[in-house]
Amino acid sequence: MADKVTKTKSKATKEGDLPIGPTGRPYHGFDVPAPLDSHGPARIIALCNQKGGVGKTTTSINLAASLAEYGRRVLAVDFDPQGALSAGLGITVHDVPTVYDLLLDTKRDPREAIVQSSTPNLDVLPANIDLSAAEVHLVNEVARETILARVLRHVAGEYDVILIDCQPSLGLLTVNALTAAHGVLIPLECEFFALRGVALLIETIDKVRDRLNPSIKLDGLLATMYDPRTLHSREVLERVVEAFGDDVLETVIGRTVKFPDASVSGVPITEFAPEHAAAQAYLRLARELVARGAVA
Ligand SMILES: Nc1ncnc2c1ncn2[C@@H]1O[C@H](COP(=O)(O)OP(=O)(O)OP(=O)(O)O)[C@@H](O)[C@H]1O
Ligand SMILES: [Mg+2]
Repeated sequence: MADKVTKTKSKATKEGDLPIGPTGRPYHGFDVPAPLDSHGPARIIALCNQKGGVGKTTTSINLAASLAEYGRRVLAVDFDPQGALSAGLGITVHDVPTVYDLLLDTKRDPREAIVQSSTPNLDVLPANIDLSAAEVHLVNEVARETILARVLRHVAGEYDVILIDCQPSLGLLTVNALTAAHGVLIPLECEFFALRGVALLIETIDKVRDRLNPSIKLDGLLATMYDPRTLHSREVLERVVEAFGDDVLETVIGRTVKFPDASVSGVPITEFAPEHAAAQAYLRLARELVARGAVA
């Protein structure tokens, strides 16, 4: 008993000693996750926000690379016809099978389309502009919302985590991603209209939970492109925390030109500039998601 009390006390003191982070809560470092001795089945996380340019793809790439660095087997699914995730990981998608071909024939082995990235433990299911035809092609399919779920079922056993980089829309592709997913991560850019549309996104997640995927969870909201020097950025983050409380992840991604630079080079920031604060932020995000139980 005495032991228990001392333990609780020492934890409380430790919490009190932590600096306050940008979300107004104590700023944890989060422990480096223990290595896994077996792999799979994957937890599937969709990165969604119908607002464009909020950091969905940048987060998919760099969170995937960070989890891979911690020994997790990761599949990053490019689910946007713009193909930015594929390009950002240096994958050329010309005359090769893509996620689109798998959607058209769910019996096809996804391994025909999956490619290894240059990052160990990180595979990619690429996309290209062909995917823009998917919504039209699939609209008359039976169970058209569950097609991606059926595709990913073939390979889920081989990965610890599957990240789906959604396109900026709430159309059929995004509904497919939400139907396939166990959790949703919502990146939000720290600027004036950040919260516009989030209510509609949450409503869509609720509908998917109600009708298609009862167990889907909100894994968190991630503030991106945060600039602590501007009052504006700080105010936006404050409003996001007011609205969503502990669903806002403690990890906040700062604004830096290193991201566009890394994308051009076709490698994650954790390889392009491993010591940079932005690379460290994505590693911390990976640790936070493991600590929250969103990833094994
Ligand atoms: N933390 C950051 N600091 C500075 N620039 C960033 C940051 N995160 C992303 N960017 C840049 O902002 C742009 C948009 O980011 P990204 O492509 O990740 O957003 P997205 O939500 O996937 O966009 P879309 O909706 O078009 O798919 C890119 O040029 C990217 O390099
Ligand atoms: Mg994108």
